Amino acid sequence: MIDPDEIAREAFFRLRQRRKAMAVAGETPNWGVDPVGWVQRRLGETIWSKQRDILESVRDNRRTVVRASYDVGKSWSASRLAAWWLDTHAAGSAFVVSTAPTFNQVRAILWREINRAHAKGKLLGRVNQTEWWIGNELVGLGRKPADYDPTSFTGIHARYVLVIIDEAGGVPAALWDAADSLVSNADSRILAIGNPTDPSSKFADICKPGSGWHEIGISAFDSPNLTGEAVPPDVSAVLVSKLWVEEKRNDWGEGTPMWTSLVEGRFPEEATDSVVPLAWATRCRVAPDIEPLPAMDEANELGVDVGGGGDETVIYHRMGPRAKLLWHGITPDPMVVVGQVINAIRDTGATSVKIDVIGIGWGVVGRLKEQFEQHVHGAEIYGVNVAESPRDAEKFHKLRDEIWWEVGRENSRPGLWDLRGASDATIGQLISPKYSVDSSGRIKVEKKDETRARLGRSPDEADALLLAFYNPVEAPDPGELYNITECLNTRCLRLFVFDPGRRCPYCGTPCGDKRNPKKY
Ligand SMILES: Nc1ncnc2c1ncn2[C@@H]1O[C@H](COP(=O)(O)OP(=O)(O)O)[C@@H](O)[C@H]1O
Ligand SMILES: [Mg+2]
Repeated sequence: MIDPDEIAREAFFRLRQRRKAMAVAGETPNWGVDPVGWVQRRLGETIWSKQRDILESVRDNRRTVVRASYDVGKSWSASRLAAWWLDTHAAGSAFVVSTAPTFNQVRAILWREINRAHAKGKLLGRVNQTEWWIGNELVGLGRKPADYDPTSFTGIHARYVLVIIDEAGGVPAALWDAADSLVSNADSRILAIGNPTDPSSKFADICKPGSGWHEIGISAFDSPNLTGEAVPPDVSAVLVSKLWVEEKRNDWGEGTPMWTSLVEGRFPEEATDSVVPLAWATRCRVAPDIEPLPAMDEANELGVDVGGGGDETVIYHRMGPRAKLLWHGITPDPMVVVGQVINAIRDTGATSVKIDVIGIGWGVVGRLKEQFEQHVHGAEIYGVNVAESPRDAEKFHKLRDEIWWEVGRENSRPGLWDLRGASDATIGQLISPKYSVDSSGRIKVEKKDETRARLGRSPDEADALLLAFYNPVEAPDPGELYNITECLNTRCLRLFVFDPGRRCPYCGTPCGDKRNPKKY
């Protein structure tokens, strides 16, 4: 069978030979075959080795996928490719389309860089926030998935189409096919780049051998700042640093999913038994396109994990969906913790504080309750004992399991909370615990000690975060509120207002002397 990629490579090879001959003969260089030279000379910029690999791969392969760590210049490379593509094809014959999971990512990351490249190279046409126009013709645009169904791609009919998928891990599967259909001819190209966070994504699939994509992996250890590759100081300053890697080694630990994905640029193994999978947690750290307006009745609360021994004490704040790490430190003195909590109440105006009472937390709760009585502060103080029984004893083993599941997992899965204010260490801890199901079908979350053994530290920050979002006040049972009883006759089971000695108005069965709560 004829491989179209092979034909494309062959054609490029021949073209390059011809262009080389032309260059030797003293004619103007043809940047079309040399994106790296184009960036260096037209824009006067420096490209490091892995960025060179990306540019040359897009020149030589129809499909390129890049999985990489943070801050290695992925988006930058994509923006330079976009500018190179439009500058080196005849106007009207080429088109660039870019996408990312949110509009904010499209505009603030890739198109900002495209704007810069356009200005630097004094390139043809004009670029606005997400579009590139030459004369009256649209030659480039950025869109986020919801902005178009696949059909709005149909307007694009250029011979040379370059499709860029930034932050590819979060792009919905349907979009991939639409994007792929745009590059059906041998002259078009597609580039997908992102952090490898979700091993079950389409992005992960195309990184596997045999997918037909040319794959490039970039780890933080490839960065010029770690290899010693020579780059000018201004480039070195913006790329991932040795210090960052050391910080993450401490925050996450080697071999953890966060480390594998965001430092080494590899997909973590699919852990189907994580309470909070990495991909869910990282999605909660992406700026939404529309920031929700703060509502008047947003919950304004604190969660405190009090560390005994050498463990950290951590205070987390929650305002509506937004989480923020307020304070953490190691202190042997519970009264220092009390002082910090009072400061935090004053700074945030929090109306309630939930504190883990196990260990020295007990004393902290007692003192803060006293101070509430003395009007030192106005926040309701709740001691939470996670070793107690859960509310839903059929589903969970202990309250701790219930909190990890209902607060940690159920807020992360649909992206209900906003974790941009949480620290990297907190996210590392949040995704760490695994769960199992016991013989009676109840969910058990890995014990703190087991997590501690794996992480090399206790997940105190994640615990404080969960407490900040945990509601210690059980919602009142509407039956109790309105004194509703369920008929004791199992063939009736109808509901009516309870009164001792009363009979069911439907079947006449006496309702006894105690309300019979309805079991859902
Ligand atoms: N070769 C380069 N020269 C100058 N600045 C660069 C270069 N590569 C990346 N940058 C800058 O480094 C920062 C991180 O790059 P970016 O492409 O956003 O990283 P990533 O997408 O890998 O997280 C950006 O501010 C970008 O402008
Ligand atoms: Mg990027």
